[in-house]
Amino acid sequence: MNPQKIETAMKGILLAGGSGTRLHPMTLATSKQLLPVYDKPMIYYPLSTLMLAGIRDIMIISTPDDLPQFRRLLGDGTQYGVRFTYRVQPSPDGIAQAFLIAEDWLQGAACALALGDNLIFADHLSVLLQAAARRDVGATVFAYQVQDPERYGVVSFDADGRARDLVEKPAQPTSRWAVTGLYFYDSRVSAFARAIRPSARGELEITDLNRIYLEEGSLQVEKLGRGCAWLDAGVPDALMQAGMFVQTIQSRQGMLVGSPAEVAFRMGFIDAAQLRAIAQTVHKTELGRLLRDLADGR
Ligand code: TTP
Repeated sequence: MNPQKIETAMKGILLAGGSGTRLHPMTLATSKQLLPVYDKPMIYYPLSTLMLAGIRDIMIISTPDDLPQFRRLLGDGTQYGVRFTYRVQPSPDGIAQAFLIAEDWLQGAACALALGDNLIFADHLSVLLQAAARRDVGATVFAYQVQDPERYGVVSFDADGRARDLVEKPAQPTSRWAVTGLYFYDSRVSAFARAIRPSARGELEITDLNRIYLEEGSLQVEKLGRGCAWLDAGVPDALMQAGMFVQTIQSRQGMLVGSPAEVAFRMGFIDAAQLRAIAQTVHKTELGRLLRDLADGR
């Protein structure tokens, strides 16, 4: 039986550019977001997250050198029942620049942005994501407690649990809540992004964009609790941890993590025959076996 189709008019951006300097020399000749996380390219994970939100129209943004490789890997999206559009970011001038690059394509649609090196795993993630995709006005971000908040955008909360302030890479963090690389915005996002000026490090900061929503009182910050895992695979240790995490769940539970094919099937974007066709392209692997079992209802 094919599951009921769950979809949204919201569009999605997968940002997969950057320099990847913290992963040198692994990223000297290839893109960070194409490196393996256990048995799949890194970009499969944030792509699965966007699709789990019900998003079917997705722009992939990367560097001039790397974009052709993403096109080769992912094609036009037909195999997953989605549409991929590709666009270059000429130089890594900041995450918020994505909304300027995509402005004409968005045509005023609401938009979610996923960073190509961020992996989120959580029970009931689809419920959280689909709720965020349904909000018409404002923005939704996700916060996660970490040991090293100074590496991220940090959010602190008032006594009622409402977000009070947001600071990018604070030297003295006022909380341990880092903002993860998954953001949902309403239709005003490109207009707001146009109002931002480059920071001291010369980037259009996503934290500055989020602060615009915070200041107008429309930023929803969802806390991800202890049952969730958020990994930013931008440094060797995190890359290794992410791979081991995926390997543990997949081999122990026989459940897939970060498979766009599985998500496409569960969301009703493709049917069992289409899923079997994808499984056939990786038929020599365990991934292929798990996809085949899913298509056969096992
Ligand atoms: P970062 O990890 O901040 O930067 P980076 O990928 O260039 O890596 P490094 O610090 O090791 O040099 O970027 C977070 C994510 O956003 C990552 O997936 C790359 C992406 N990104 C872009 O695509 N364009 C940009 O202009 C920036 C700043 C980041």
